[in-house]
Amino acid sequence: QNPVRPPSGGADFVVVANRLPVDRDTSGDTPQWTTSPGGLVTALAPVMRENSGAWIGWAGVPDEEIAPFDVDGMHLVPVTLSAQEIINYYEGFSNATLWPLYHDVIVPPEFHRAWWESYVHVNRRFAQAVALEAAAGATVWIHDYQLQLVPALVRALRPDVSIGFFNHIPFPSVELFAQLPWRAQILTGLLGADLIGFQRPADAANFRRAARALLSVTSRGNRISVPADSEAGTEAHVAEARAFPISVDTSALDAQAREPEIIARAAEIREELGDPELLLLGVDRMDYTKGIRHRLKAFGELLADGLLDPEKVTLVQIATPSRERIDQYQQIRSDVELSVGRINGEFSEVGIQPIHYFHHSYPREEMTALYRAADVLLVTALRDGMNLVAKEYVACRPQEDGALVLSEFAGAADQLTQAVLVNPHNIDGLKAEIVRAVAMDPREQRRRMRSMRRRLFREDVQAWSQSFLSELEALDADKDRTSAI
Ligand code: ADP
Ligand code: G6P
Repeated sequence: QNPVRPPSGGADFVVVANRLPVDRDTSGDTPQWTTSPGGLVTALAPVMRENSGAWIGWAGVPDEEIAPFDVDGMHLVPVTLSAQEIINYYEGFSNATLWPLYHDVIVPPEFHRAWWESYVHVNRRFAQAVALEAAAGATVWIHDYQLQLVPALVRALRPDVSIGFFNHIPFPSVELFAQLPWRAQILTGLLGADLIGFQRPADAANFRRAARALLSVTSRGNRISVPADSEAGTEAHVAEARAFPISVDTSALDAQAREPEIIARAAEIREELGDPELLLLGVDRMDYTKGIRHRLKAFGELLADGLLDPEKVTLVQIATPSRERIDQYQQIRSDVELSVGRINGEFSEVGIQPIHYFHHSYPREEMTALYRAADVLLVTALRDGMNLVAKEYVACRPQEDGALVLSEFAGAADQLTQAVLVNPHNIDGLKAEIVRAVAMDPREQRRRMRSMRRRLFREDVQAWSQSFLSELEALDADKDRTSAI
């Protein structure tokens, strides 16, 4: 592709993600905007409000041509996806090929050439949108697995801009990644960036190893030598790949959790649940990676074993609707609902219901009140890039009480080392650790919570974006010196 000229009046800072932070809701009489789901949007929204710039993404509905608009201090530039592209690019290649492959094949990934073609096509459209939006010398920050070809496409179109990429989900070991029929194209696409960020050092190491093994590039430390590509139209450069663990807006959540209305709502939630002695909470997108079935199995067995008493303990499980047309998502929803129904059927009495299950999305204040209300949060992901829910819970515990049960397979376990860490595949171990968290001495809870909170105040989402963007700036300043390593 031939380079294009920078637009006049373009943005100096451009964020590119599959989704905009808001979705177009066309289900009612008048279309409305609603917050879009997931950790990526939660993390990027505060970053965008601070660095005025443009956010390029999809509005969550088919075929709508929407003009750029401003919302909540952010300039949003919608990219249109057709109904067929939603099937092939979004539900297909992004969420039925890459998502399961990158999450350690918890379910089998599907490989279809038509999906791949659509992925290439849509990635080109995003790259074109960047080329038209970014000012000369702008910083372009591309996000997540849906857009892995965009870095190299942007480099070819706009060699003047500085390109960062952040992968919000895990990057698999080369043994799994090598299954992907288009593995070389994906690696080449990512290596178009100057800086490639991952959640965990292990993800960055997997990526560097895949690049060395499958593209025969050379690397030293975090840096990879990327040769010129005459077909793509890109020059040789050095790309850096390393970990930048994402986080939450700790002080904003902490402040919200201290508001009198939130405290009152937290008390009201407990009351409405029948004032249980102990409130356990699970909060996830309805996704097979989250280990909701394993959590329910452990909880049900603890009731059956008499180690948890349904008269005293209540589990609130919130599962946001997600990717609902994909088979595996329909399957996990019916498995979860069957399991909730069985456990409640077995252990409920009049006025006693061990599991309260909600398949909805909630406003942020309600989430904060729930975190504030819960004695124990259960995060049992089988694989998760980070898991912001775990960090949100810690940030919403200003009184330093409460316990976090956290899967060692979530990126958050690298930072929240004082959580009760579990292997969710080991149901007996999970049960034992839930009992340990429930019975933990309040002083021990406080010691752990305090230490985790201290770390999250230091390592918040602002620190994450600043460290990524300042590293990108440093690499840009160094560019001429380092076209090889
Ligand atoms: P993922 O990115 O895979 O969805 P994360 O745990 O990293 O997982 O992020 C999930 C985000 O979505 C968090 O910010 C969480 O507060 C939010 N969230 C999850 N469930 C709900 C819900 N039912 N209503 C509103 N927000 C939710
Ligand atoms: C995860 C992914 C995001 C995605 C979000 C919600 O957080 O990393 O890229 O946006 O899930 O999923 P969805 O498919 O609804 O965008």
